[in-house]
Amino acid sequence: MYPLLFRAVLSRFDPEFAHHAGMAVVRVLGVQPFARATRALTAPDPSLRVEALGLTFPSPFGVAAGFDKNAVGVRGLAALGFGHVEVGTITAIPQEGNPKPRLFRLVEDRAVINRMGFNNKGADAAARKLARLRRGAPDTVIGVNIGKSRVVDVENATEDYVASAVRLAPLADYLAINVSSPNTPGLRGLQAVETLAPLLRAVRTAAGKTPLLVKIAPDLPDEEITAIAQLAVAEGLDGIISHNTTISRDGLLSDDAVVEAAGAGGLSGAPLKERSLQVLRVVRAAVPEDFCVIAVGGVETASDVQERLDAGATLVQGYTAFLYRGPFWGREINRGLLGR
Ligand SMILES: Cc1cc2nc3c(=O)[nH]c(=O)nc-3n(C[C@H](O)[C@H](O)[C@H](O)COP(=O)(O)O)c2cc1C
Repeated sequence: MYPLLFRAVLSRFDPEFAHHAGMAVVRVLGVQPFARATRALTAPDPSLRVEALGLTFPSPFGVAAGFDKNAVGVRGLAALGFGHVEVGTITAIPQEGNPKPRLFRLVEDRAVINRMGFNNKGADAAARKLARLRRGAPDTVIGVNIGKSRVVDVENATEDYVASAVRLAPLADYLAINVSSPNTPGLRGLQAVETLAPLLRAVRTAAGKTPLLVKIAPDLPDEEITAIAQLAVAEGLDGIISHNTTISRDGLLSDDAVVEAAGAGGLSGAPLKERSLQVLRVVRAAVPEDFCVIAVGGVETASDVQERLDAGATLVQGYTAFLYRGPFWGREINRGLLGR
């Protein structure tokens, strides 16, 4: 009932406008006394705590990158019960992202297509926000996802990632290298093992002791996913985030005209569910048991989260279902996980 009502109201607005409106509410919920009041309703049960990456996560379920690109909603998202927030993608150089419209709903599929293109205020602005957040010691874990600035050529990507890592790693609980967004030309090419190895090595050094993860695409063949997972272990990374949006349009229920009208971009939400579990299993089989694997893609319910934990995920994230299920989605998942 509630999601239906929420969906009816939400679908009247342009999706990006609806996101900004939702984020404004989230920001208010992060301010006292609202944060305390919200937290009283949503705080994850202590039995849901997960120890990973040398950190304590209040819940295994967190917000995936892209929702809070500029680290402005962390306190509100924590108040809503999420166990971690991965902010970003942040680039060394501030950028506007792609021209609007760039976010499209596929309501029948409980999915969206986006080609945002890393719209963000840049690493310096994010560092200032994170430094302020750190002083307040928020009761959530903050991951920082970094990507390549659009104006920087792919050949010079390593220096660009390193610049962000140097600036942001000291302020992050963990750092995630995004080489898997389909919306920055050439970015996913960085996943080729021979290109990725020097990039991971350089960022590993720049990140110092901060846990470092790499976020991969679901569209790679399974052998390449295995090779990247093994490379991440060999280069001393701490985990893999499995995975970003897909460029595939297979199996969608939405009208072809609706899908075509959306155009290029990454697809996320319910249609990712099956591939997501497959990729998770491939990654888990390629890495040691204590290596952190964060599963993301198509998660809607507590049983989706549990299925991923059972398949070897250390932690789970979501984004698109938040847009469809409403502000208490984190609480709904945490409650559903209890007693499983
Ligand atoms: C509008 C939108 C923007 C996104 N932006 C980013 C981003 O900046 N960096 C990133 O690593 N992933 C980004 N993602 C991908 C999500 O973090 C996640 O990997 C993907 O959406 C699959 O999860 P979901 O099915 O729960 O949405 C974005 C997703 C959406 C829907």
